Amino acid sequence: VSGAPLGVFDSGLGGLTVVRALRSRLPHESIVYLGDTARVPYGTRSEDTILRYARSCASVLTKRGVKALVIACNTASAVALDMLRAELDLPVVGVIDPGASAAVEIAASGPKPVHKIGVLATARTVATGAYTRAVGRLSTRLEVIGQAAPLLVPLVEEGWIEGDVPRLAAERYLEPLIHADAGVIVLGCTHYPVLRSIIEDAAARLSGRHIPVVDSAEATAAAVGALLESRGLGAPASERGSLELLVTDLPASFSQMAERCLGTGAPAATQIDL
Ligand code: DGL
Repeated sequence: VSGAPLGVFDSGLGGLTVVRALRSRLPHESIVYLGDTARVPYGTRSEDTILRYARSCASVLTKRGVKALVIACNTASAVALDMLRAELDLPVVGVIDPGASAAVEIAASGPKPVHKIGVLATARTVATGAYTRAVGRLSTRLEVIGQAAPLLVPLVEEGWIEGDVPRLAAERYLEPLIHADAGVIVLGCTHYPVLRSIIEDAAARLSGRHIPVVDSAEATAAAVGALLESRGLGAPASERGSLELLVTDLPASFSQMAERCLGTGAPAATQIDL
């Protein structure tokens, strides 16, 4: 089993930020990534639809014999993690608990006391309250303020990641979080790490100080590493992990996003039907 790949899925291309973090932390692991590009975005849809989509993505990956499943999508993690854990006979990791615990750690370790964690996410992720519950399991002291930032998703998909448009959008979404005195900002959507420096700069400009920004991709890769180790599922150190990219539609922006996240050596994606 330890030689089997990790299965990673996302609603589209944003989950490649998690793949990047996994490959840098766990270079021996092979990965099969499925981006449901035909049905993105998930973040604006109903819970029932997201459950159905998540189940079909998981089924493609389990049929390929993956040893563990990583839900590299905040919206699918918020809605479908419990269901997939109950239904599947393999470990399932979402991105929300790792992101929440990284945020709680940073909140506890800074020089200035932090009482509020701001979460930028899709409308559905905010509506589920998943980050509030995840932080609440770790600390009773911290308040979570969610802010839906839906326009950041198409900006990243379009590759519109520099200049005035993403800067103004980031400022508009951050404004209520800064106003409420959030001391840590969580990038609660897999697309947002691509805009990380724009978001960091905007938060600093609006607040007049440095506000730490948490990227749940890094924290998720660490959680996957810990899980594989605890279950004895890690790939042998002699292996060099391979990467297979599957998509349900091949958008023009795919190779650009793959290159941005994975470098020029990114493999071509194969289009599949669910
Ligand atoms: N991958 C989604 C997430 O992390 C963002 C894109 C979408 O709405 O599907 O929430």
